[in-house]
Amino acid sequence: MLDYTCFEGILFPANLVPKETLQNVCNKFVVKEDDLIILTYPKSGTNWLIEIVCLIQTKGDPKWIQSVPIWDRSPWIETGKGYDQLIKMEGPRLMTSHLPMHLFSKSLFSSKAKVIYLIRNPRDALVSRYFFIRKLNIVKKPDSLGTYIEWFLKGNVAYGSWFEHIRGWLSMRECDNFLVLYYEDMKKDTMGTIKKICDFLGKKLEPNELNSVLKYSSFQFMKENNMSNYSLMEKELILTGFTLMRKGTIEDWKNHFTVAQAEAFDKVFQKKMAGFPPGMFPWE
Ligand code: A3P
Repeated sequence: MLDYTCFEGILFPANLVPKETLQNVCNKFVVKEDDLIILTYPKSGTNWLIEIVCLIQTKGDPKWIQSVPIWDRSPWIETGKGYDQLIKMEGPRLMTSHLPMHLFSKSLFSSKAKVIYLIRNPRDALVSRYFFIRKLNIVKKPDSLGTYIEWFLKGNVAYGSWFEHIRGWLSMRECDNFLVLYYEDMKKDTMGTIKKICDFLGKKLEPNELNSVLKYSSFQFMKENNMSNYSLMEKELILTGFTLMRKGTIEDWKNHFTVAQAEAFDKVFQKKMAGFPPGMFPWE
């Protein structure tokens, strides 16, 4: 079913994210103090971050990441299946979400639950998603990258506008229980990011354990790990050539945008992100 659900004016993939679950997340779900929540806009490196967090939790032991599918280790709260898993799960729970802030459970805002918010250059998240959805039977496919850029800039894509997502969640950036990370920094200094996450979670790992986290969360290891590379996805959802682990680089958008598309994107970016301090985003 190549269809969208529209909830509060935002599009969601109908077969993965039912309206009823969105209502439940918004109004019923109770965040617990010992929850750890991974938040991202789609294609920002979500699964990489989940893999790192799982490995930190096991002190670099790869048994868990090699035996349990990534979506069962950190269920997506807005998916029907993930929601059902999470409400039955004993704590401390690890969970993932792509929801914009205003649709997330209000109980988060009075809780000490830890949140990691990962951001990626929207141009790269766009290109990543463009190639991803072309090989998936989940949502309507654009006829070209140009069309997809138009949809993206208007927020007419699943999970809505990147700009609103970032603006919303970044309003929590001064909170002690909220860690902001950037995909670009993770690429440039992965070990530094792993240590930052350990500090945030209050985990002390030995140097050999940190090295193990680094090794098993690498692009190559994740690509070969069937529990993390999405090869276990339902067969009817994927087309030949589908892969989560496409390139794993920064600035791939430069290989795909025309000069005019890049200029149009910049214009919208400057307008929508006005007011953030200079140097806020590592790619600018
Ligand atoms: P590309 O399509 O640009 O390669 P998400 O997990 O949010 O769906 O994001 C997927 C993107 O993260 C893909 O980007 C994928 O290659 C990249 N990615 C996943 N694991 C990675 C890793 N270990 N190192 C670097 N990038 C990774």
